[in-house]
Amino acid sequence: MRPMADRDVRVYEVGPRDGLQNEKKPIATAAKLRFLSLLADAGLREIEATSFVSPQAIPQLADADELMASLERRPKVRYPVLVPNDRGLARAEAAGVDAICVFTAASEPFTRANINMTIAESIATFRPIIERARGQGWWTRGYVSTAFGCPYQGEVSEAAVVAVAQQLIELGVDEVSISDTIGVAGPADVRRVVRALLGAGIGPDRLAMHFHDTRGTALANVSTALELGIRCFDASTGGTGGCPFAPGAAGNLATEDLVYLLDREGMAHGIDLDALLVAAHHVSDTLGRPLATKVGQAGGWRVP
Ligand code: COA
Ligand code: ZN
Repeated sequence: MRPMADRDVRVYEVGPRDGLQNEKKPIATAAKLRFLSLLADAGLREIEATSFVSPQAIPQLADADELMASLERRPKVRYPVLVPNDRGLARAEAAGVDAICVFTAASEPFTRANINMTIAESIATFRPIIERARGQGWWTRGYVSTAFGCPYQGEVSEAAVVAVAQQLIELGVDEVSISDTIGVAGPADVRRVVRALLGAGIGPDRLAMHFHDTRGTALANVSTALELGIRCFDASTGGTGGCPFAPGAAGNLATEDLVYLLDREGMAHGIDLDALLVAAHHVSDTLGRPLATKVGQAGGWRVP
């Protein structure tokens, strides 16, 4: 990849995975494949496709093997998948993926609820997985969930976030995604956590921010992170999302809302908003409910 200019932003799409994983009604694999195709049409170049996790944990993504087998991979598009353990890695290898994400958290009770491990056990589980992935030249990412608050523990310290992020970086992941799983952060929290990460020597090129818009603060948080030099943001087209193990967590930051903000900030991202709205409407048609996102409802701004 060419080096990024200061105005270049990576928009990392999580709609097919984080966005859909908590939907109760089964979604046809064909509808998911169409979503993936529309996202690539819109110019997204990093699209988290699914998870190779236990189908008991996330029934909605139980079709991951079938989905990846049928996915028409576009050139220059990365399709990362979530891998929690060796079994997930074997499934990812069989599916021919070349990008994976491992995921842990900054709080023990959430890590237990989500992947039934302690944080230390999760890092020990991921070590050989990342080693093997890197050995095959794969791109790798590590998630630090509940970085701004935990549904079981409450407040989470920045020191806890830094400690887990550093362990993931030491495993050799290309980047860590600092996640506000339950959507509680505000800009002051973003400043506190991002400054602690940068202060610990983790460069902005190794960091992504993952905001949920549960309480309407996601765009303010993006704006703050942009000012701190962060240039990768996770978002979900159509604004769906949530984790079944994070009670009360609602939608991810919507990709259409993020892209609109980035446009107004003069940032370069390569995504066509009109084409993205086609993908967003596909999500709402598939789920049978209207779009709850701001830009999904209003559309882009057409100057008369
Ligand atoms: N793919 C498919 N099945 C898997 C699997 C994988 N990667 N890992 C475990 N399983 C199956 C096991 O075979 C077992 O099935 P069985 O009950 O039919 O025998 C079952 O899942 C439980 O396996 P076990 O090894 O005992 O794991 P666990 O119960 O301790 O659960 C995880 C650990 C990590 C597998 C599970 O918690 C999980 O998949 N979590 C993902 C949660 C998630 O994706 N959250 C959202 C993202 S933030
Ligand atoms: Zn999320």
